[in-house]
Amino acid sequence: MPTTVSRRRFAAGAAASFFALTARRSYGYPAETRRIAIHADVATGLIRPELHGHFAEHLGSCIYGGLWLGKNSPLADANGFRRQAIQYLKELGVPVLRWPGGCFADDYHWRDGIGPVARRPKRVNIWWGNYTEDNSFGTHEFIAMCRAIGAEPYFAGNVGSGSPKELRDWVEYCNYPAGSTLADERASNGSPEPFRVRYWGVGNENWGCGGTMTAEEYCTLYRQFATFVRPFGDTQPYLIACGPNSNDLDWSRRFMHSMEAAKLRRRPDGFSMHFYSGGKNTPLAYTVENMREQLSSFARMEQAVLQQRALLDTYDPDRKMGLLIDEWGVWDRMVPEEEKRLGRLFQQNTIRSAVAAAMGLNVFHRQADKLVMCNIAQTVNVLHAMLLTDRDKCIRTPSYYAFQLAAPHRSKTAVRLESPDNSPLAVSAAASRQNNELVLTLANPKHDVGVKLECPVGGARVVSATARLLHHEDFNAANTFDAPDRIVPREHPVSVSGSLIAIELPPMSVATVLARLA
Ligand code: AHR
Repeated sequence: MPTTVSRRRFAAGAAASFFALTARRSYGYPAETRRIAIHADVATGLIRPELHGHFAEHLGSCIYGGLWLGKNSPLADANGFRRQAIQYLKELGVPVLRWPGGCFADDYHWRDGIGPVARRPKRVNIWWGNYTEDNSFGTHEFIAMCRAIGAEPYFAGNVGSGSPKELRDWVEYCNYPAGSTLADERASNGSPEPFRVRYWGVGNENWGCGGTMTAEEYCTLYRQFATFVRPFGDTQPYLIACGPNSNDLDWSRRFMHSMEAAKLRRRPDGFSMHFYSGGKNTPLAYTVENMREQLSSFARMEQAVLQQRALLDTYDPDRKMGLLIDEWGVWDRMVPEEEKRLGRLFQQNTIRSAVAAAMGLNVFHRQADKLVMCNIAQTVNVLHAMLLTDRDKCIRTPSYYAFQLAAPHRSKTAVRLESPDNSPLAVSAAASRQNNELVLTLANPKHDVGVKLECPVGGARVVSATARLLHHEDFNAANTFDAPDRIVPREHPVSVSGSLIAIELPPMSVATVLARLA
């Protein structure tokens, strides 16, 4: 493997530093030595903060009961949002938040969620349990929540059961500054300033819950809807078309082919794939085999990014159209009693989920030049959540901390890594740089083997480094309402010698190294 450090010098330095490390810490597991070279002088792409995006759907207790409690709740802030959740999300940093679905989006009619709350209609949520929603959380509430946590709003429009007029009116309502009936209605509903919403999804999963369409049928509707979504005021909308389910190249090819055939002058700005990592067990009962299967899916996700981007490149060589993954994450089997009590798709979150989150994020960091946005599903209580709530309790999941550990990458430039081991369960790594700061994120997806990792850094001298580690020896371990801080990041030893960073990763761990370069 090419490195910038001579092998002999490298081996001597590594042995010395590891001796120090292992002498200080003993985890009681076998450890393998692995090497990943970091080419700090070879930029591969900007890590847009939006690669760390999130998604919140009207599903289970993600919105109602999770993020939104209403103004009369003692746990809520003045806006009606769960105070603790807002605080945690603000601290994490949520670059972009997608809403209101998911499948829910193609059955959502935005006018139901504006105006005096008492007069808003009650609707049946046909996708997620047929319960009724009072629409007390609507457009204004979502925008206020985005402002409270510092997120850019991303609205998913209704194509499956809506009309082009309904979508264009929503955009005008949100973005036109003043003087039109819709802009004035927004003002009379309490928001004279336009919301300036930039990201608009034109449907969601239109191959499935968004209308069961063929790629050609969806393409026809996309063109029709997109024609009317105009820049109202000074906000140029960024239109996102429904892309494939996982790596369905047939959907993407047929959609792009239909676009070409229709000679559309303005292509979509974004094309969104959904990629879930299914699991064959309930979160706390995973077997080694279940875990290996789920964590191996991230190699397929990376392959999907490469192949989908390569296909789009044949139509769009200048990459004017961005590739998104606006839903991703682990989807385990649900525990029926939990779903009954805590809402549909309520899913506990383990150290394994955090390793999965870190592996997914590292795919995005490594492929930063090919992706414009990625949104994990979903923010609170549902699927691969950052936070879990139960009545007055709100806790941070291990995946929250995996996102926190990845945050230093945001807005930095990804640099090239080279590893001799690219097997699906090899150490997952990504590195980025800004001036003399180097960020290295790592995950060890093996449950029984630690890794003594040696990272020669090419193109710069390493002056110092610090590290933080998230780890639990039991891959089914979770933060619970009774033990919320069981899995939290801690300081971790890392050694530097010349151009070499050395760190030991216990099994089932996620780490970040922050290094200073000369
Ligand atoms: O995130 C849960 C569901 O998964 C979404 O509603 C849908 O888009 C996807 O199938």
